[in-house]
Amino acid sequence: MEKTKVAIVGLGTVGSGVAKLLLDHGDRTARHAGRTLWLEKAVVRDLKRKRDCDIPAGVLTDRLEEVLDNPEIEVVAQLIGGLEPARTIMLQLLESGKNVVTANKALLAEHGPELFDRARELGRCIAFEAAVAGGIPIITNISQCLSANQVLSIQGILNGTSNFILTQMDDLGCGYDTALAEAQRRGYAEADPTMDVDGTDAAQKLAILAHLAFGARVHWSRIPRVGIDQVGITDMRFARELGYRIKLIAQAQLVPAGLELSVAPTLIRIGTPLAEVRANYNAISVVGDAVGDVFFHGQGAGQMPTASAVVADLIDVAVGRLPITFRTLELWSNRESPVSLRPNDDLPSRFYMRFQVEDRPGVMAKITTVLGNHQISIASIIQHEPSSHDAQDGKVPLVIMTHEAPEGAAREAVEQILQLDVVNSSAVRMPVMDEPKL
Ligand code: NAP
Ligand code: HSE
Repeated sequence: MEKTKVAIVGLGTVGSGVAKLLLDHGDRTARHAGRTLWLEKAVVRDLKRKRDCDIPAGVLTDRLEEVLDNPEIEVVAQLIGGLEPARTIMLQLLESGKNVVTANKALLAEHGPELFDRARELGRCIAFEAAVAGGIPIITNISQCLSANQVLSIQGILNGTSNFILTQMDDLGCGYDTALAEAQRRGYAEADPTMDVDGTDAAQKLAILAHLAFGARVHWSRIPRVGIDQVGITDMRFARELGYRIKLIAQAQLVPAGLELSVAPTLIRIGTPLAEVRANYNAISVVGDAVGDVFFHGQGAGQMPTASAVVADLIDVAVGRLPITFRTLELWSNRESPVSLRPNDDLPSRFYMRFQVEDRPGVMAKITTVLGNHQISIASIIQHEPSSHDAQDGKVPLVIMTHEAPEGAAREAVEQILQLDVVNSSAVRMPVMDEPKL
C-alpha cells in the first residue's frame, strides 16, 4: 500500500492524541485514506519530558530540521499553541513544501491572511478543522456541505473550558477556581486559560466562522466580548428561578444593517438545545436560507475529540481532497469583505440586570425612572426577603428582566443606575435568549 509520510510538531494534549490515532489505528486511517499515514517524525522541545503516548525509537526528535529537510514528509500536524514560535514554524513548514494541519485558532485569527497568502503562493494548503469546536466538523460543514446556502445566523457554544466551568458550578455547586483547575487537568484549557474565560478564544473561533460563512474579514478583537469570569453562583440561581441557564454564547447574525457579532454570557431558556449543552461539549446552530436550521453538538475540547478532527484533515490532505478545496475557497484572500459590522450599540436584546440595592422606599422608583428614560421596558422584577443569603453590605439583590432594547441604551441605563446613592457600585448585565433566532 502507498505511504504518505506525516510529522507532528508539538506533542502536548492534542499532539499525543494524534500520535495515538496514527500509531494505534493505522489500519483504520489506511482504509479511509486508501494509503498508510506513516508517522515519520514527532518534534518536541524537551526529549526527556514524559509524553502521553508511546512513540517508536527514531521518531521522536527535538530538531525541527529533521522535518524541514526531509522531502518525503508531505504533511505536518502543527500542534503547538500561541502565536510564536507557531507562526514562524508554520511559515517554515510551508516554505519547505509541506501541507500543514493545525488546531491553533489564535494563530489563524491573528495571522490568517499572511499564512494563507503564503500557502497559496507556494501551492500548499492549510487545514484547520480542529481549530473551531474540537471534534465537531463545523469547518467542513460550513465551507463545503452548506455551500449552497447564504448563511443567515450562527449561534453557538464555542469554548469547552467555559462551558465545563459553568456546568460544574451550576450542576455541582463547584467553586469557579476548582472547576477551572479541573478543566486544566483534563486538557481542555489553553496554556493561558485567561483566553478561555474572558471570551477571547470564543471570539477567535467566531471570527473564523464569520469568515467562512459571510466572507467577513473581521479581526477577533473587534468582536464585542464578555467572558464568564463575571458570572457567579448568585446569577446562576436567579437565572434558574426565571427558567434559564447561563451559557457563553457566540453569535453572528446577518441583518440588513450589517453583520452582528458578539460573545457574551447569556441567559438561555431551559429546554432549548443550547441550554442543555453540558461539560466540555460545544454546540452550534447554523441557519441557512435553503437548508433552514442545522444543529451540531459534540465535544469541543479534549485530547481525542480534537485529534479526531486533526487526523481527518491529515487524511483529506493525503487523499488530495483538501488541497482542491483550499484552492477553491481562497480563504483570507485580498477579496473585499462583502459585509460590514453592525455597531454593537445597535444590537437588540432582552437583558437580565442585577443590582445590589438598599431595601427602602423609593429605590425601585429611582431605578425604573432611569430605565424608562432610556425607553427600556421592564418584563419582570425579583427582590427576595432581606434575610436572603445574597445580601451584601446591607444591600439586597434586585433582578430586572427587560423587554428588547438596544445594547447601547441598556449599557447607558446601567451606568446611570450605578450613580444612584441607593445602589452598590457594580452590577451584572447579560443578554437573554428565549429561542434560537431563525
Ligand atoms: P499543549 O498541551 O500545551 O501542547 C502544546 C505542545 O507544543 C507542548 O507539548 C509544547 O512542548 C509544544 N511546543 C511548544 N513550542 C514548541 C516548539 N518550538 N517545538 C516543539 N514543540 C513545541 O497544548 P494543546 O492543548 O495540545 O493545544 C495545542 C493547540 O491546539 C493549541 O493551539 C490549542 O489552542 C489547540 N486546541 C486544543 C484543544 C484542546 O482540547 N486541548 C482543542 C482544540 C484546539 P512542551 O511539551 O515541551 O511544553
Ligand atoms: N481551550 C479550548 C476550549 C480548546 O476550551 O474550547 C478547544 O479549542
